[in-house]
Amino acid sequence: MPISLSGLVDKIKPSFTLQMTARAAALRAKGVDVINFGVGEPDFNTPSHIIKAGQKAIEDGYTKYTPGSGMLELKEAIQTKVKNVTGTLYNTKQIIVSNGGKQSLSVACQALFEEGDKVIIFSPYWVSFPEFVRLSGAEPLLVDTLPSEQFEPNFDDLNKKIMGGYDFKKIDSSIKGVIINSPSNPTGGVWSDQAITKMLEISKANNWIVISDETYEELVYDREFTAIDSLNTIGAEVLTIRSMSKTYAMTGWRIGYTIADEAIVKAMSKIQGQTTSCPNAIGQKASVAALLGDPQPVLDMKNKFQERRQVMFDALNALDGVTCDMPGGAFYMFPDFSSYLNKATKDGKILRDTFDLSDYILDTASVVTVAGDGFGAKGYLRLSFATSSEIIKAGIKRIEESLKELK
Ligand SMILES: Cc1ncc(COP(=O)(O)O)c(C=O)c1O
Repeated sequence: MPISLSGLVDKIKPSFTLQMTARAAALRAKGVDVINFGVGEPDFNTPSHIIKAGQKAIEDGYTKYTPGSGMLELKEAIQTKVKNVTGTLYNTKQIIVSNGGKQSLSVACQALFEEGDKVIIFSPYWVSFPEFVRLSGAEPLLVDTLPSEQFEPNFDDLNKKIMGGYDFKKIDSSIKGVIINSPSNPTGGVWSDQAITKMLEISKANNWIVISDETYEELVYDREFTAIDSLNTIGAEVLTIRSMSKTYAMTGWRIGYTIADEAIVKAMSKIQGQTTSCPNAIGQKASVAALLGDPQPVLDMKNKFQERRQVMFDALNALDGVTCDMPGGAFYMFPDFSSYLNKATKDGKILRDTFDLSDYILDTASVVTVAGDGFGAKGYLRLSFATSSEIIKAGIKRIEESLKELK
């Protein structure tokens, strides 16, 4: 009997960044010497004091369910950490812990949006944003950004989109929210305080909720990180999502959290409680140690990322026909490879888009990159510098050799 699946499955796309990771693993398993610039996680292990806290949690019997929205002890640690960053003391009822920032975002969208709603997403966007919105029944409304200005919003395009085109002078009332991600995956862009403030003003004026994905909060290199809520003097509705994954090198522990209005947190808890019960108990105890413990390992990782950022920036800009701006944060470079599109490979295949280009680089250089087309950015590739400087240099050299073969 043919299996009948729900319409939801067709509505969403699979995570192609996870597919690239799987392809790299499959090639490695065959013995191919693959260089992977596709990774979206630190190459460092979780700092040892956090690992020890996880081990102790198991021994102390934290192997059972916790409250659905997270342990009070962790919510208090989040309260302390966020107070140190933003100066604001949130109530623990404004905090919900989830199994990673991905679950936080997905549950937040399900709690806030539904069919008939639109949610603004800036392009290039992290692959999962449009899918979280679609899972909730709503539709993403894509708005362009300015590549030369850390991929800040193109406010002309925003105006055009929310007015349904310049000809219509009425704001689209089906827009319910906007997702901001600074520092950004995939671009590494960090928005200026002015751009963020402008978005807060527009959101307040239109009653949109601002979802601020601050997953890469500590990885800002050229200035201090600004939490969006700390700029929110006009009182826009802001929901902040953070994660233990990238800052603390804890991707596999699966802990993220949301800070929002109590009513939203209550609604999210209801959904989360009926899907995953609670976040991982051991990960929660380890997260307490991460948030309240020695900050030095995080600073050390950040310094390493900063060194590697320079190495990759120099190597990419030295490639013929490639341009790349310096990303202000995260661990991604987003260079423009459009001059290689429509060129032909040795066997006469034309590289029509960056999916083709990324496949070509993988086939000929055994280097994994991620196609910008998948993030809504034609002509760009995403390369992660969460790997050693030696590997970065070797990988870009291999890419250079492959590009030379194109006609
Ligand atoms: C922008 C952004 N938000 C959220 C996440 C979710 O991370 P996690 O679920 O590991 O907390 C990621 C992970 O790649 C990301 O890049």
